[in-house]
Amino acid sequence: MTDLSDIKDRSLYKNPAFSIDRRVDDLLARMNLEEKIYQLNQYTLGRNNNENNIGEAVKNIPAEIGSLIYFETTPELRNSVQKKAVEESRLGIPILFGYDVIHGFRTIYPISLGQAASWNPELVEDACGVAAQEAFTSGVNWTFSPMVDVARDGRWGRVSEGYGEDPYVNGVFAAASVRGYQGDTLSAKNKVAACLKHYVGYGASEAGRDYVPTEISKQTLWDTYLPPFEVGIKAGAATVMSAFNNISGIPASANYYTLTEILKKRWKHRGFVVSDWDAVKQLITQGLAANEKEAAWYAFSAGLEMDMTDNCYQKHLGKLVKEGKVSMEAIDDAVGRILRLKFELGLFENPYTEILPDDKRFLLPSSLNVAEQLAQESMVLLKNNKGVLPLKKGYKIAFIGPMANNRLHLLGSWSAHGNEKDVVSILDGIRKEKGFIKKNILFADGCGFDGNDQRGFAEAIRVAEQADIIIACLGEKKTWSGENASRSVIALPRIQEELLENLKKTGKPLVVLLSSGRPLDLSRIEPLADAMLEIWQPGITAGIAVAGILSGRYNPSGKLPITFPYTTGQIPIYYNHRKSGRTHQGKYQNITSEPLYSFGHGLSYTKFEYGTLKLSSSKIRRGDTLRAEIEVKNVGNYDGKETLLWFVADPFSSITRPVKELKYFEKKEIPAGESRIFTFDINLERDLGFVNEDGKRLLENGIFYIMVKDQKVKIELID
Ligand code: NOJ
Repeated sequence: MTDLSDIKDRSLYKNPAFSIDRRVDDLLARMNLEEKIYQLNQYTLGRNNNENNIGEAVKNIPAEIGSLIYFETTPELRNSVQKKAVEESRLGIPILFGYDVIHGFRTIYPISLGQAASWNPELVEDACGVAAQEAFTSGVNWTFSPMVDVARDGRWGRVSEGYGEDPYVNGVFAAASVRGYQGDTLSAKNKVAACLKHYVGYGASEAGRDYVPTEISKQTLWDTYLPPFEVGIKAGAATVMSAFNNISGIPASANYYTLTEILKKRWKHRGFVVSDWDAVKQLITQGLAANEKEAAWYAFSAGLEMDMTDNCYQKHLGKLVKEGKVSMEAIDDAVGRILRLKFELGLFENPYTEILPDDKRFLLPSSLNVAEQLAQESMVLLKNNKGVLPLKKGYKIAFIGPMANNRLHLLGSWSAHGNEKDVVSILDGIRKEKGFIKKNILFADGCGFDGNDQRGFAEAIRVAEQADIIIACLGEKKTWSGENASRSVIALPRIQEELLENLKKTGKPLVVLLSSGRPLDLSRIEPLADAMLEIWQPGITAGIAVAGILSGRYNPSGKLPITFPYTTGQIPIYYNHRKSGRTHQGKYQNITSEPLYSFGHGLSYTKFEYGTLKLSSSKIRRGDTLRAEIEVKNVGNYDGKETLLWFVADPFSSITRPVKELKYFEKKEIPAGESRIFTFDINLERDLGFVNEDGKRLLENGIFYIMVKDQKVKIELID
């Protein structure tokens, strides 16, 4: 029982012995309209160095403000503003502090696309737990993460922030991150509230351009873009962020259907929706609202509770209530949702953040370990001819390229308070790796990330010629990914390809390391490479993880969560497309129509042999249970982890279905010489059924295929 003897103010809402619903009602009953409207607004506090979001500095934070985006790394400033709210406002309502903690706070781990490539949700949950602990101890109670926008266009800079092209994968990692951030109880120490974003369809951005309208049919909305959000909501996500895009005429931030009908009524979400940055005001530029007041009305009436930074709610909601255009009931519902989260987080009882020294908050050994494990499991061995990797000990190795000795860009997009100095570069990683002699590690930059300056080529070739093997370290700058970072082609800049072409002329074995926030067009690079390792933007343990894989200390186990097209011109290209009428025609005349690397591709140093896929029954009826099973044996010389991707195909259906759809995956460690059984318990409705354009789940009789790797088994659903 909580000891209430020292609580002076006996107002019910201040008494934790009462239920949260009663405390919310009690507090609402005491609030005037002005106080309520303040709760619906979010300003910023501290230094904002995100150039997409530079707002007017808010010097005089009102003590009644609902929420602040907190840009500092220490809690002192936060605590002093919180003190003003708790002690100087009439009702003492604490402020909710949010921040973009996207793939780590200070311990930066791989970007979400890389996380998905690990196919290891438990590890991602642990990583989000690390992020939550560092954020919480720095004064942040709410992260604007995870982003679960299904994205199929590598030109879009924000593919780096999501979990790839598949709705099911995005859902699994949505739930894992929500669990990692929030834990079992939001009020627990070191936990923060999660925010599913961007609701919804932002990933359908046309031609990969950011902030542009999207054309999404209701069918596609339901079968592709909504599912990860539904899973995240079921996992308990406290909040949702509305997206910037216009969904076929109705902007996502003013969309009653998605915000109220689906989220609140069907999914019964009791948390709240925050707009994206200035998204309410942008209803004007999108052509919906004629002015800020109308914008506030549209967004609020659609079901958007908190206005991020643009002040439209602050300036106009009061007038709209007085004019009878917005009801007090709607205001109370919205404010109640925000207050509920503040109670759930325990902010009324513990409004202040304890001041801890940096070494008790950041880069804890256990956190670094999680980051390293996630980094190594995220890396995808795309190619490995003649077992050129792992590297032979005693070799002279030339590390060449702009990424070899770089730290900054390995942090990746949205790196919060990540510090370049914390990053282990690829070169440093290999120099510290056991078994490698420092003098055998050679290095040359060769060229920059872009531009035309070839002056470093000669030195690069001179260095390469002294080595037994070349590791070309290529890739993208961190600023080429994330928000407002679209690229018209997804090949690396020509200068990097030219460096590789020159290195090839030495005749030495050539391994290519690629760090990127998106799938790349490797059509010119792949033919030159003996091996290729995609390392994404791996965060601060980059060099240790890379060295582990190059040396064989780690066996690569990542697989692609997004298709690597052959060229940019193939985009959009994704595995779960619908079938065409003439499968033998309609190909590109000048290039292959196949991607370079398919969804799920990824090699290992060992060899896995698959047994025969077996099903518990070949004819099933509704209500039956069905189990698929397969044995996988590690017949190679290395211990390794294998991920099995279980697909379903429904060849004929009243709404045509994709060629195949991922329904389940599992990753298991298999020591060399041993085997493991993988099973998939098929739930007929969930795994064989599909949704129509109203979100109604249907299950139709007929033939289905269960597929794993290159095997498929037929089953029939009968009456
Ligand atoms: C804009 C971005 O779209 C969103 O993802 C982010 O959370 C907000 N800005 C807040 O910084």
